[in-house]
Amino acid sequence: MENKNLVSITDYSKEEIFEILDLAADFEKNPNQNLLDNKVIATLFFEPSTRTRLSFESAISRLGGKYIGFTDASSSSVSKGESLKDTIMTVANYSDMIIMRHPIEGSARWASEVSRVPVVNAGDGANQHPTQTLLDLYSIRKTQGTLDNLDIFFVGDLKYGRTVHSLLQAMAMFNTTYHFISPKELRIPDEYKLFLDRKGLKYHEHREFDGIISDADIIYMTRIQRERFSDPMEYEKTKNSYVLKNGMLDNTKSNMKVLHPLPRVNEIDTDVDENEKAYYFTQALNGVYTRQAIITHILGLKK
Ligand code: CP
Repeated sequence: MENKNLVSITDYSKEEIFEILDLAADFEKNPNQNLLDNKVIATLFFEPSTRTRLSFESAISRLGGKYIGFTDASSSSVSKGESLKDTIMTVANYSDMIIMRHPIEGSARWASEVSRVPVVNAGDGANQHPTQTLLDLYSIRKTQGTLDNLDIFFVGDLKYGRTVHSLLQAMAMFNTTYHFISPKELRIPDEYKLFLDRKGLKYHEHREFDGIISDADIIYMTRIQRERFSDPMEYEKTKNSYVLKNGMLDNTKSNMKVLHPLPRVNEIDTDVDENEKAYYFTQALNGVYTRQAIITHILGLKK
């Protein structure tokens, strides 16, 4: 087993990422494999989720495993004041792996340090969402035939968007050119620009959206996340900053795909859904295969 936990995408080497993507391709061809007989996996969601939790639970079910957990911390003893450490140490007694989403940045790292079973980060605040990144990489490689030398346009909440932060770091292994389109209040944090500077990678920041996407291989749309704002006025000011409309895709490259980690609110018009360049629902489906790959890789059940 090369890596027990998956807390940050930077925990994985390029080789390990390719291993996961190849395994996911295998699961796409043959999703029902009884590899998790007698395994119990805990899904602890301290924040709401549709895709991450259900695709993990679907992945576990298709692998013949069982899952336990909660979808709301208020139904657990956290509501009585139990600490994250005590929760994790207890749940580690009941399971072979813990998949956790939590609103606090660094919580997954902390959990992995106190757990005696592997911990998978299903999103920690505005920090990281590495399993989303692996399914994003799978989706990009599948649609583009490569991960190398692509132009990726990240649009929306680049400040609090954990899916953006993780994917940006992963794509740095593949000589990516980055375009960041956001309102100034939600621009990409300096630490990520420094990270790209150190790698010698090109990035461009924009405030406007329409008319600049003709070079894109991938447009990665994101939601302005109301739950991350401490000031509701800031959310109101930025919430409708960018809306992708079907006509805007007319002059884009034929290979170009629109990705979105979802959920969407109004940042992609629903008429885009029928466009062959819209890939976000298939991207969500790819989450099942990728998460099957992550689980079996971490548990050493498949090489
Ligand atoms: N992409 C993603 O994390 O979606 P959910 O919040 O529905 O899990």
